[in-house]
Amino acid sequence: MLNSLLALVFGYLCGSIPFGLVLTRFAGTADLRSIGSGNIGATNVLRTGRKDLAAATLLLDALKGLAAVLIVAALAPGVPPLFAAAGAFLGHVFPVWLGFRGGKGVAVFLGCLFGLDWHVALVFVVVWLAVAAVTRYSSAAALVASAATPLALVVDGRRDIAILYGLLTALVWWLHRANIARLLAGTESKIGAKAAAEE
Ligand code: G3P
Repeated sequence: MLNSLLALVFGYLCGSIPFGLVLTRFAGTADLRSIGSGNIGATNVLRTGRKDLAAATLLLDALKGLAAVLIVAALAPGVPPLFAAAGAFLGHVFPVWLGFRGGKGVAVFLGCLFGLDWHVALVFVVVWLAVAAVTRYSSAAALVASAATPLALVVDGRRDIAILYGLLTALVWWLHRANIARLLAGTESKIGAKAAAEE
């Protein structure tokens, strides 16, 4: 029990590193929280016009989730690594360093998934790319891909992880409630579009 709690805290600390904010601050772009959606994730970094920083943010936000899961799996074999995954997701979404106002968790959701079940992580990537290609909306892609994840986990025989990812998917949808409102209103910005503050 104590080890599971430690895995949760370790995951939280990994997930709480706000790479999007760190990279854009070093690069001297506008503060992510005052442009576009106000989110600290890769989609909003892209709205600064810096594709390189957006790609790096996506990669690092995913890697921090993957690292948390793999490190716990390697160092504490008796502890279910999904505790590290839950911690990493919560750390990204509610980072203590930013007054518990973090991101929407999609990249870290995926990174953890690669560590827990890479088959389903590939399903997520394929669904995300397909929806993004058709709609050009990052948020719509994230919503559909996250919803597909618990189902794919059940199909892949990972009911333990499916329960966690069902909860994380519900959180992802709640965190995207402003995006959902914009999608329904037809005002959501498309991938790659630079935008002024939306919220
Ligand atoms: O992964 C986040 C994406 O789904 C939405 O980002 O900045 O448009 O709220 P954003």
